Amino acid sequence: MKIIGVTDFGGPEALRLLEVPEPHPGPREARIKVAAAAVNPTDTVVRAGVRGASGQLPPHIPGMDAAGVVDEVGEGSRWQVGDEVMAIALPFGQHRGAYAEYLVGPDDSMARVPAGMDPVHAATLPMNGLTALQVLERLDLQPGQVLAVTGAAGILGNYLVRLAKHAGLTVVADAAERDRVLVAGLGPDHIVPRGDDVAERIRELFPGGVDGLADAAVLLNKAAWAVRDGGGIAAVREWRDEEPGRGITVHPIRVALEYRSGDKLDRIRALAEEGVLIPRVAATLPAADAPEAHRRLEAGGLRGRIVLTF
Ligand SMILES: NC(=O)c1ccc[n+]([C@@H]2O[C@H](COP(=O)([O-])OP(=O)(O)OC[C@H]3O[C@@H](n4cnc5c(N)ncnc54)[C@H](OP(=O)(O)O)[C@@H]3O)[C@@H](O)[C@H]2O)c1
Repeated sequence: MKIIGVTDFGGPEALRLLEVPEPHPGPREARIKVAAAAVNPTDTVVRAGVRGASGQLPPHIPGMDAAGVVDEVGEGSRWQVGDEVMAIALPFGQHRGAYAEYLVGPDDSMARVPAGMDPVHAATLPMNGLTALQVLERLDLQPGQVLAVTGAAGILGNYLVRLAKHAGLTVVADAAERDRVLVAGLGPDHIVPRGDDVAERIRELFPGGVDGLADAAVLLNKAAWAVRDGGGIAAVREWRDEEPGRGITVHPIRVALEYRSGDKLDRIRALAEEGVLIPRVAATLPAADAPEAHRRLEAGGLRGRIVLTF
């Protein structure tokens, strides 16, 4: 099968169209004929080799999000050939990443594609939807409590604002001037200008600080002052700063822990069908153009996901 793989870690040009043997599903697994794979920031980390390869032999296959049609099932699988599904993938796991013609995964790494949604849009849901759910679970805020979201113009920020509002939280989101309309469309209660002084802007609205911070822009201690004493911060990348202190808990977020969260993935499907989660696609590119997709992602300023098609 064709994959977009990396034999030597490096820049976008390290992504190459390669041929490898087809995988087949084992018990309670299914194989997806991948139609679409979303390009996420973490894929650039895999490509560049920042995280190492966990002993895996090359070629390494990036990609944590796929959608397509089940074309083969293992013994006892609850999926059937022909089912339209979306899935989370783990590039350094047994079945590797989603930039591939075929992706095998355990039954509970998949959920049905939301009714009426094409695979390109569906492919943007699993990984960031599961991350957003994990953030809200870890912060464990109650309806009426206040959540601040940095990086609200991004995809994780998008899903966080929508899910938090759906959960009855009060939400304050950051936005650059040019993103104000886009972020307002997500329905936060307040918008503050994005930037290094975002914590001060949030404190102007909530002088005692907010209950929780979902730091999707990875501002670390630049944003931590927004949080009240004893509040929580969801850290989506390693917390490379001093501990914020003041009784604040930093919750490390790891979406890989949700690889077998089929029930949650099905909730994401339902939330998309209800219109709570609305995917945003910036562009679709043929898989062979993966280097161009990574260049565009790393340049910043995208306001939707690039999705590779197979
Ligand atoms: N730990 C986990 O399991 C996990 C899972 C999913 C995602 N993540 C991480 O979560 C982060 C967000 O992911 P994503 O997919 O939402 O990325 P994204 O779509 O690129 O969004 C990030 C957003 O943050 C904005 N931003 C950058 N610098 C900023 C700043 N100083 N102040 C305010 N906003 C700023 C970006 O704007 P510009 O485009 O203008 O730069 C962009 O809109 C990434 O670091 C990703 O790797 C972690």
